[in-house]
Amino acid sequence: MSLDAARGLLACPRCAGPLTLDGGSVGCPAGHRFDVARQGYVNLANAAPPANAHTPAMLAARDRFLASGLYDRIADDVAARVAGAGAATVVEVGAGTGFYLGRVLDAVQGARGVALDVSPAAARRAARTHPRAAAIVADVWQPLPLRSGRFGAVVCVFAPRNMPEFARVLAAHGLLVVVTPTAAHLDALRARHGLLGIEDDKDERLLRSSLGLFEAIARNRLDYRVRAPGAAVRDLIAMGPNAFHGVPDDVEDAEMHVSVTVSLFRRPAG
Ligand SMILES: C[S@@+](CC[C@H](N)C(=O)[O-])C[C@H]1O[C@@H](n2cnc3c(N)ncnc32)[C@H](O)[C@@H]1O
Ligand SMILES: [Zn+2]
Repeated sequence: MSLDAARGLLACPRCAGPLTLDGGSVGCPAGHRFDVARQGYVNLANAAPPANAHTPAMLAARDRFLASGLYDRIADDVAARVAGAGAATVVEVGAGTGFYLGRVLDAVQGARGVALDVSPAAARRAARTHPRAAAIVADVWQPLPLRSGRFGAVVCVFAPRNMPEFARVLAAHGLLVVVTPTAAHLDALRARHGLLGIEDDKDERLLRSSLGLFEAIARNRLDYRVRAPGAAVRDLIAMGPNAFHGVPDDVEDAEMHVSVTVSLFRRPAG
């Protein structure tokens, strides 16, 4: 079972003790137990999913969109960074379908990983993303149910970040890879379809939130234009927060401007 990929990596959300897999559930030495869902993930959240947790329809659209290959350059870049650091254990936070984690695990032979998301629909999909990936439901704004210092890399792509928790779960010299959209990301499509905007100080806020926790080691812009079929553009709208406001039926082919920042941070020793 893919949850086995998380051996030695999970912590009890009630008492922070180590969790081990035992048949159909995971448990800690204090006796707290959590059932493994039929689809192979475990729910370690202390509360019901919040209103902004992505829905099954959004996850299905995300799966189709990512399969189109239009974001492969982002995935290749993230995977190369983690492979370059030689990380053997990786967690993707706000993983959605676990697409980026899957690409990372393909690139790093023998590595194993955890896909963490607050949405059970995401965990259901992420549990199938890779044989060396486990999926858990957890809220990034709570203490993460992950053991301290056990991860060689944390990956966070277009997802919320809890920098003190990322620092806690990383081993000394561990790598944090964060992908954020620039203000130019999908600019023409945003204007055309009235999509939500992007705050333009995202990178500065990220840098500020890393102070005292991480050493900033690099910041690279990935910028390209690609022709996207109408169906992919529709999925792009349907997979994000705009889906909460409705998705247009007819969407034309369009040139898509992909513009993101890949930021790398290192956890200092000690
Ligand atoms: C824009 S999606 C990105 C998903 C994936 N990284 C990708 O790029 O395909 C953001 C993800 O963060 C998750 N998310 C939102 N709030 C969260 C929270 N508080 N804790 C954990 N995950 C959260 C959503 O459910 C969603 O899957
Ligand atoms: Zn416990």
